[in-house]
Amino acid sequence: MTDVLYFNGRFTTTGERVLGVEDRGFQFGDAVYEVFKFLDRRPAFLLDHYRRMELGLHEIEIASPWDEAQFSSVMHELIERTSFAEGIVYIQVSRGESERAHFYPDGMAPTVVAYSRAFRFPDAAKKERGIRLITTPDLRWKQCHVKSVNLLANALAKKRAQRAGADEALLVGDGVVREGGSSSFFVVKGGRLITHPLDEHILPGVVRDHVISLALGAKIRVDERPLREDELFDPDEAFITSTTQSVMAVAEIDGRVIGNGRRGEVTTTLQQLFDRLESRQVAGVAAGG
Ligand code: PDD
Repeated sequence: MTDVLYFNGRFTTTGERVLGVEDRGFQFGDAVYEVFKFLDRRPAFLLDHYRRMELGLHEIEIASPWDEAQFSSVMHELIERTSFAEGIVYIQVSRGESERAHFYPDGMAPTVVAYSRAFRFPDAAKKERGIRLITTPDLRWKQCHVKSVNLLANALAKKRAQRAGADEALLVGDGVVREGGSSSFFVVKGGRLITHPLDEHILPGVVRDHVISLALGAKIRVDERPLREDELFDPDEAFITSTTQSVMAVAEIDGRVIGNGRRGEVTTTLQQLFDRLESRQVAGVAAGG
């Protein structure tokens, strides 16, 4: 099915083949991306995604193609033109197109692509059941705070998880649990949250950030510190967060049951708090992007 596509300043459909083979996003992974969610034709946490994309563009020295107002207006129009009311928008900005060379020319015009996609968000039953993870080595590059399109290591790790009958790969580097293949990771121990600190080893997740604020607001302590792999043996609860999964309970890691195998109390509280925040934000009741 074709649907609406934004490409370099104009709207078309995904039926149009827009990219040249010498686009650097295609040949060099020289691009950053974002994924945001929309409900009732309204974006969730749009400003957070804009800000993260701007930081990523800055880090890899690609000129930003838009300011906040232009970005927001393109994304709202894209959702308006989309044929369905709920889904995700994928945005990618690459350095642009030029004759293949590692030495790229200065001042290239970035290639900007954005399109919507229908997405089935987890229902209540799945949220309660939770998901299974396997641990796997983190083979990504050393700048994981940049949401670059270099997702080969993530894709291979997630495929490995799928083959093992799991839903997500938990990436472990230097004996430290970093994050999921496409999600942030938390454990709950003694009523406190533990999650990796913000640094170059993880993506600064939009949902992660809101969940930490919600936890603190609910008087749940949060330790942002490296979690050693051996600490994975006995958490009371574990969950992942991401734009598409929101707060998702983890039932099993490497075949070991977490807690009593059912969604824990802290996870349930944070799921509810996050879902409420998201609906209020989407409806324009609460601030936050
Ligand atoms: N992935 N960590 C990684 C490596 C991710 O790819 C993602 C998101 C997250 C969670 O970030 P956020 O809460 O801002 O969605 C953490 C997106 C959804 C994707 O690649 O499709």
